[in-house]
Amino acid sequence: MATRLRAGILGATGAVGQRFVQLLENHPWFEVAALYASERSAGKPYGEAADWRVPVPRPTYAEEMIIRAMEPNDDVDLVFSALPRDSAETVEADFAQAGIPVISNASAYRAAADVPLVIPEVNPDHTELINVQRRNRGWGGYIVTNPNCSVIGLVLPLKPLHDVFGLRLIQVVTMQARSGAGYPGPPPEVIDDNVLPFIRGEEDKVEAEPRKLLGTLEGDSIREADIIISAQCNRVNVLDGHLEAVSLGFENRPDPEAVIRALRDFRGLPQEARLPSAPARPILITDQEDRPQPKLDRDAGDGMAVTVGRIRPDSLLDIKFTVLSHNTIRGAAGAAILNAELLKNQGYL
Ligand SMILES: NC(=O)c1ccc[n+]([C@@H]2O[C@H](COP(=O)([O-])OP(=O)(O)OC[C@H]3O[C@@H](n4cnc5c(N)ncnc54)[C@H](OP(=O)(O)O)[C@@H]3O)[C@@H](O)[C@H]2O)c1
Repeated sequence: MATRLRAGILGATGAVGQRFVQLLENHPWFEVAALYASERSAGKPYGEAADWRVPVPRPTYAEEMIIRAMEPNDDVDLVFSALPRDSAETVEADFAQAGIPVISNASAYRAAADVPLVIPEVNPDHTELINVQRRNRGWGGYIVTNPNCSVIGLVLPLKPLHDVFGLRLIQVVTMQARSGAGYPGPPPEVIDDNVLPFIRGEEDKVEAEPRKLLGTLEGDSIREADIIISAQCNRVNVLDGHLEAVSLGFENRPDPEAVIRALRDFRGLPQEARLPSAPARPILITDQEDRPQPKLDRDAGDGMAVTVGRIRPDSLLDIKFTVLSHNTIRGAAGAAILNAELLKNQGYL
């Protein structure tokens, strides 16, 4: 195996951090060299500090690794960040300033004009903002972000439809899994037999991030896509997998067959470049009337493909469908790893 880049994981003990630990085991390009968490965990072996919840055995390579405090060291080539927003704001900047590329899941920098917000199948060219960011901030490293977990599942199918039919209006109702709230998440007495019709800050992200992702790189900035989005976000009693009911209005109204063709034929740079974590097909279509379902479909394409079903005409807008994505894989850790693979492919790593 060729020499791999040394990767650190910031927030390695959390819901997303654990997925990084799992997905980076035996990665062909990246090797986990450092695990970081809060002061509560620093100094302890990972096997002791992390309350492992991923439904596969904990990788043995991580067991004895001693968790570090959030100090940048020069023995990592990049870090993946699964930090809460507040700590991400300072820690990610510290690492980028110390010359280390930060591939982040956190929302702290997603909206910043000089920070790329990227889904490799959707807007791989937006990584050019890295040069603007380094110039603006004087950093040797940089920060690249992936979107909110609901936004990735939504925007993947929107991309080919926007390119062909011109999106104007989006209405989306999310049904988001418990793991999306991090560990330990909502307590059983709150979430059992229940749906929570409010997730703090979530609707703002779902209404803002697709406009940047589907926007156009013009000079040193992104011109956002001119799309109106209305989101209603709910927490449901599902372990993993965000389901979203989506209605779309277009400039040129397509029929459901044309939508199915556009989604089925869609491939992006990760598929063409055969990036290691890219699913063969980013969007899978189901014609079963009661699919996709979180329990049955979240692991499609090893959790990296999204599944779209129930594609049909909408009586208010033009087209409606249901989309499912794995929130901690394609919606978080897998998304960041695919971003890092894109950056290596483009020469930024
Ligand atoms: N869960 C999802 O589906 C999802 C999807 C997309 C994006 N995200 C984003 O990814 C990030 C992580 O989410 P999560 O669900 O994995 O959260 P989580 O389960 O609460 O994990 C948070 C991690 O950050 C560490 N941490 C907490 N406070 C810290 C501090 N003050 N200083 C340093 N480290 C600290 C924790 O370490 P200790 O164990 O030591 O406390 C833990 O490793 C968030 O920004 C979230 O919005 C989550």
